[in-house]
Amino acid sequence: MGGVRGHHSAAPPLVLWSAATATDQDATGPRRRPDTQNFKAREASMAQRTSTRDPQDMPTSFGFATVAQGEKQALVDDVFHKVASRYDLMNDLMSGGMHRLWKDAMVSTLAPPRSAVRPWIVLDVAGGTGDIATRIVERSGGTAKAVVLDINGSMLAVGRDRAAKAGHADAIRFTQGNAETLPFPDRSFDAYTIAFGIRNVPDIPRALREAHRVLKRGGRFLCLEFSEVDVPMLDRVYDAFSFNAIPAIGQAVTGDGEPYRYLVESIRKFPNQARFAEMIREAGFERVTWRNYSGGIAALHSGWKL
Ligand SMILES: C[S@@+](CC[C@H](N)C(=O)[O-])C[C@H]1O[C@@H](n2cnc3c(N)ncnc32)[C@H](O)[C@@H]1O
Repeated sequence: MGGVRGHHSAAPPLVLWSAATATDQDATGPRRRPDTQNFKAREASMAQRTSTRDPQDMPTSFGFATVAQGEKQALVDDVFHKVASRYDLMNDLMSGGMHRLWKDAMVSTLAPPRSAVRPWIVLDVAGGTGDIATRIVERSGGTAKAVVLDINGSMLAVGRDRAAKAGHADAIRFTQGNAETLPFPDRSFDAYTIAFGIRNVPDIPRALREAHRVLKRGGRFLCLEFSEVDVPMLDRVYDAFSFNAIPAIGQAVTGDGEPYRYLVESIRKFPNQARFAEMIREAGFERVTWRNYSGGIAALHSGWKL
């Protein structure tokens, strides 16, 4: 068991379901608004702290900048506060609608049950506006329940509104929390999904251990993430589009290109398919595989808790 904390005890799924509902009430709170421009100063301060062993001070990437692990989350939060209201529109513009196909393929791979004798619950981490959870609930014909966990209250607020309008308020619960310290007991979920979220988490190995901890035996882990393009020429076209067009589209649609520069840079800093598969194995998962979409622009990693 790859758990990071020993104090959790298993809870029946329906108890868990109401626990998620209760946490839902705590979704907002004061938060720091960091200066996302000040990367150079952060890098300089990092260089002076290389001797420390506190994990919060360990270097990690924020796009192409290097920051302390303890600083990255606030910077990431600021990005998603800024983009929340336009997030879904921007996803379509930036990917030419491709993200919909990749997400549909992810949910096809998950194949949520269309009937179940006991509740079947998926945890969608970094679930933002609820795109994956909505697809899973709809694909299951309403059998599946989903808990969307995200650290960002602004993204969750958009998701909650969308779910209510789509008639999914009873099937999808929205919970504010951190992928590194999931507020759920061990062995709570039948599946764990995370789409375009893991690269934003400061301590990825810790988040993967948490995924393993909260899954039941036989539970499935699926991670959709931008990855390494392995088609000659496509990589150059993709780079040109990413570094030029995406921040420009962001600037035109939201008035600020900087958050989109971070998104592009964070994709390039993320481990490639083979290395990420190794990290998933190191967290305790078995039968780890991956599948490329669109020449590796995105990849779906799968693992099982056996
Ligand atoms: C690119 S969005 C993906 C949203 C959604 N999964 C989708 O595919 O449309 C990344 C999300 O990760 C969330 N996030 C970043 N760090 C997180 C953390 N440590 N724990 C949970 N969520 C986090 C952000 O708030 C944001 O909503």
